[in-house]
Parts: sequence; C-alpha cells; structure tokens
Amino acid sequence: MLRAAITSVGRYLPERVMTNADLEKIVNTNDEWIKSRTGIEERRVVEPGTPTSELCLRAARQCLELRGVSPDEVELIIVATITPDMTFPATACILQDKLKAHRAWGFDISAACSGFVYALTMGAQFVQTGAHRKVLVLGADVMTAILDYQDRTTCVLFGDGAGAVLLEPSPDDNGIIDFAHEVDGSGACYLNMPAGGSLRPASHETVDRREHFVRQEGAHVFKYAVRKFVEASLRLLERNGLRPEQLDLFVAHQANIRIIDAARDRLGLPDSKVVKNIQRTGNTTAATIPLALATALDEKRLKKGDLTLLTSVGAGFTVGTVLLRWSGVNWS
Ligand SMILES: CC(C)(COP(=O)(O)OP(=O)(O)OC[C@H]1O[C@@H](n2cnc3c(N)ncnc32)[C@H](O)[C@@H]1OP(=O)(O)O)[C@@H](O)C(=O)NCCC(=O)NCCS
Repeated sequence: MLRAAITSVGRYLPERVMTNADLEKIVNTNDEWIKSRTGIEERRVVEPGTPTSELCLRAARQCLELRGVSPDEVELIIVATITPDMTFPATACILQDKLKAHRAWGFDISAACSGFVYALTMGAQFVQTGAHRKVLVLGADVMTAILDYQDRTTCVLFGDGAGAVLLEPSPDDNGIIDFAHEVDGSGACYLNMPAGGSLRPASHETVDRREHFVRQEGAHVFKYAVRKFVEASLRLLERNGLRPEQLDLFVAHQANIRIIDAARDRLGLPDSKVVKNIQRTGNTTAATIPLALATALDEKRLKKGDLTLLTSVGAGFTVGTVLLRWSGVNWS
C-alpha cells in the first residue's frame, strides 16, 4: 500500500494580538492567573466578522505555494472546524471557491480539538488507496466567534488561527504510519456549545441564556486530557513496537501547557522533544496541531525521517493519535 506523506505546511494567524492584559479590561482575571494555570500569554484574534474560510484561504495558499502546487491540482479538501462560516454549506466548499481549486471536492469534519488529526487520517486513506494524489487538510477555528467574554473560565483560553497540510503519496518509507482514535460520547456534557443546533435552535431565549457560546467543566476536561494523551500515545506506540524514548518529536494539542507537561512527564520525554506554542496562540482548537508543526519547522526541530507523534483530545470527547515519519518540506 502507498504511504501518505505531509509534503507541505501552511499557517495563518491573524495580526491582532490579544494579551492577558487586554483580557483584564474585559473580565475579572489577571495575567498571573492565566499564565500560571494555562501557560498562555497572548493569543491572535480576527477582526470581528472574519470567517474561518478566510483563515483557511491564507493557510492553504501558503501551503500550496511552498510546494509549488497550483490550486487546480488539489483533488480533495477536508476542513476540520467547529466554527464553520455557516452551518451549511461546508467551509470546504466556500474555501474551494475562494482558492479556485476547481477540480477539488471536499467536506468539513467536526471533531473539535481532534479535528485536524481525524481529518489527516481521513485524507491519508484517499492517498493510500490511490484514489487521490493531492489532498489539502486544514484545521481552522475562529473561536472568538463562540466565546462568552462574560465567562472568565473559558474566554481566556482560546484564540483564532488556521493550519494546512498537503498530503501526497510518499516516494519513500516516510509518511503516516498508523493512527489510533477513540470517542467517548458520554463526555459531551463537559464541553459543548448548547444552542444553535437541532436540539436547541436559535431563539430569543437561547440568546438571552448565552447558550451560543463555549461551555466547559475545565477541571474534568483537564484530567481526561492528561490521561488520554498518555494512554492513546502509548497504545499507538506499543502497537508499532516502539517506546516513547524512540520518538523524535511529540506534537500535542495545545490546550493548556500543564496538560502538555504532565503528559510529557508521564511519557518520560525530555522537554526538547515537545512542541509548545500555546504561550503565543492560546488554544486554537482544530488549528493547534498544524500550527505546532509550523512552530517545529520554525525552530528547525523536524528533520526528514523524524519519528513524530501527534496527539489530541477534544470535545466529544474525541481522542486522536497519528504516528508518522517526517517527510521533509520546504520551509522558510
Ligand atoms: C480551565 C482551567 C485552566 C482551569 O484551571 P483550574 O486549575 O482547573 O482552575 P479551577 O477551574 O479549579 O478554578 C480555580 C479558581 O480560579 C477561578 N478562575 C477561573 N478562571 C479564572 C480566570 N480567567 N481568572 C481568574 N480566576 C479564574 C475559578 O473561579 C476558581 O475560583 P474559586 O476557587 O474561587 O472557585 C483548566 O481546568 C483547564 O485548562 N482545563 C482544560 C481546558 C481545556 O483544555 N479545554 C479544551 C479542551 S481540548
């Protein structure tokens, strides 16, 4: 079977920076609390009214340009997001038009913070079967569109951003090796946006009750995330006859620096093998893993052949892990 490889990476972060000091003016919080509990110092935020498809467009363009691939060559677009431009049509369709990727079909997937890892796995199947040779996979979210700036327990945690990767058949042994995903739907009550779907359609009442925003029980999500980062990572490694110390890079979903550090310690990894950019971006939901890959490339920490583990936990609950050997990409 063919192996699918990430052959390019693109990213887009909005220019506007929202610091913890900016949040102090909006809710009853402070820089020290946010930094010590989450690691976050600032996050990027869009100008109000900027849709997710615009962030996707910029990340996708960078990804394709770096590889010298024209939008016309893209065969499939998968967008992972929980903040689509609209409930329908899919943001992938809006992006296909904006990007002028005339030959591509596409769809969105909703798996919250595991969205990118799931989308990557799905895209890889089309490459591995030989059905497609160029698949664009994006993780993108405009979290500021669904944050309640009266709720200090959630609004300080998130930011906006988009990441894109191109999947192509690998010319060698590098590329995506294996994945292990899980869902525990009983966790839906701990992290969700209550209204706006078919269960609670938008009404004056849902707006008055502020139900169109992210709600979460942070402490429960925290414990689940630490446990699952470790369990899922070990399961995937063991299945492939590998031990954590053989990893070159651990790229975890950026939700809280304490979650990442706790998982790092339990896996017995040194900090030098762990990517962190949450300090500057906050939790960008589906975008964190491709943005973290971009950070690793900035820091020259990803070399061809590097054994890399991507791990995520998100609303659902969703758990995702992908094991790959890095293929080498153009990066400036
Ligand atoms: C949200 C999170 C940072 C809270 O950290 P915590 O150590 O669990 O803190 P707690 O929720 O126990 O709150 C401690 C106190 O800080 C207060 N607090 C909460 N948010 C605050 C803020 N932004 N500023 C100041 N104080 C705050 C709480 O009200 C609470 O006060 P109390 O003790 O008087 O009731 C943490 O639970 C977390 O990161 N959870 C996972 C979130 C996540 O990853 N979500 C996305 C999933 S992928």
